[in-house]
This record gives sequence, C-alpha cells and structure tokens, in this order.
Amino acid sequence: MIDPIANRMALAEAIAQEAGQRALEYFNTRDALIIEDKANPQDMVSQADQEVELLLRTRIAASFPDDAILGEEGGGTAGTSGFTWVLDPIDGTAPFLAGLPHWGVVIAIVEGGKTVAGVIEQPMAKEVFTARAGAGAWINGTPMQVGADMRVENCNIGAGISYRTPRGPFMAFLDNLLEAGGMFYRNGSGAVMLASVAAGRLGGYYEPHMNPWDCLAGLLMVEEAGGRVLPFPALPDGGTVLAGTPIIFDHLSTLLEVSNRT
Ligand code: IPD
Ligand code: CA
Ligand code: CA
Repeated sequence: MIDPIANRMALAEAIAQEAGQRALEYFNTRDALIIEDKANPQDMVSQADQEVELLLRTRIAASFPDDAILGEEGGGTAGTSGFTWVLDPIDGTAPFLAGLPHWGVVIAIVEGGKTVAGVIEQPMAKEVFTARAGAGAWINGTPMQVGADMRVENCNIGAGISYRTPRGPFMAFLDNLLEAGGMFYRNGSGAVMLASVAAGRLGGYYEPHMNPWDCLAGLLMVEEAGGRVLPFPALPDGGTVLAGTPIIFDHLSTLLEVSNRT
C-alpha cells in the first residue's frame, strides 16, 4: 500500500541532504557571496539562500507536481494534493554568512493544517533531525527524547528574537528566567535550537515571533520527542513559539504570562 507521507518524507530527507551539501559548498566559499539586506541589516539574504531554495523547489516539483510549496525566499506556489512543503533553505543565515556552524536546511510537510513530517539537516554537525507525526523523532536515525531530568534551574533554555516584534516582553522573559535561576542560549538558528530541545540538549525554547518555515519542523520534533509546544497558527501565518519538556513548558508558560503583563 502506498503511504503518501512516507513517500514525501523519503524525498524530504534526500533533498535536505543534497541541499545541505550545496549550502556547505557556498559556506566554504562564502567570501564570494553577494549579501543583500531584507527587512534590516540583521536580516540578510545571499545567492546561497536563493539557489538552495530553488534546488529544493525543483526536486519537489519533479516528484510531487500537485503539492503546494511555501518557501522563505520564493513565497507560495499553489497545489491541489492537500500537501504543502514549507521550506527554509538556510535557517541561521546570519551565522552561515559569519562562518559560524549553527545553520541548517529545514523542511516541514503540512497536510490539512497539520505538520505531518519534518527534517532539519545540519551539515556542519553531520546531523539530521527527522520527525513524523504519531511515529516519533530521530537524530541520525536514533530516537530522540526531551530531557527527562531537566528543570529550568539546571539547563539552558533557547531564546530567539528578531526585529519583527518589540523587544519589551522578550527582555521581561529573560529577566524572569534569570530570576527563576534559569539560563538562556542563542546560536542564531531557531530551527536548530528547537531540534536541540527534542534531542534533550536544551530544556526549552522561546521566541515571540517566528515564521512557519523557521519552526514547524522543530515544533513537530519536540512533540514527537515527548515535549510540549504552544499551538502555532495556520499557514501562512507566523506566531509565538514556546516549547519544552512537559515540566519546563509549564514553568516557561507561567514566566511568559508574567512577562507579557509587564
Ligand atoms: C531566523 C533564525 C533566528 C530567529 C529568527 C529567524 P533565518 O531565520 O531562525 O534564530 O531568531 O526569528 O528569522 O533568517 O536565519 O532564516
Ligand atoms: Ca529561518
Ligand atoms: Ca532562512
């Protein structure tokens, strides 16, 4: 029997790997890249982002021509199959262009408003994170679990911010996190940080606003690894991201409520 999600997931893994290698070639010759600002000088795009997304889109259209695609750089292409591929060719563009290692190719597959599969390929770490709804989450094929013994007081919590939102509630959240004995971590790739929650490396993640291509794959990974996440709006909207182990998610939710009232 044909499993339409398994078929798409297999393609997603294969093209994420191919795209990751293409991105790595650009990374190794990044001095030659022409960099343009998007919304502001912290929000950049280069030929690497555009070409890697084009590669993904070409591969998807060749195998599943009736699927919709929503990509960070190329926007939306309509489809008729009910499946949408949500693409971030390079999450962590700023670290990528600066020569730092935390960046990855991110693919989420959405069906009927639900994320059914996700892949995050991180070439510099030689790691691929995968998840399928109802089936689990894996790192290089080994099942992932969120950190069972983690508490806000004994681990790092990923935190992200962009110039898309005012910084007041974020600063209040950091203050409340530190007051609670916690510690924050940021590496410039929200997708990799969410995958790190699923892998039990970070206890949780908070960002006031992310776009769906940044976070849908990672949110599925956290849930499938036994964690909890704040419900995320339907495509193509962005929204607040909160994720963590069950205990940390509850704690961070309380801190966030207090922070948003500040
Ligand atoms: C960004 C990164 C960053 C997060 C931003 C995203 P980009 O994506 O994930 O960590 O804080 O919200 O926009 O621009 O590197 O693809
Ligand atoms: Ca991104
Ligand atoms: Ca990107």
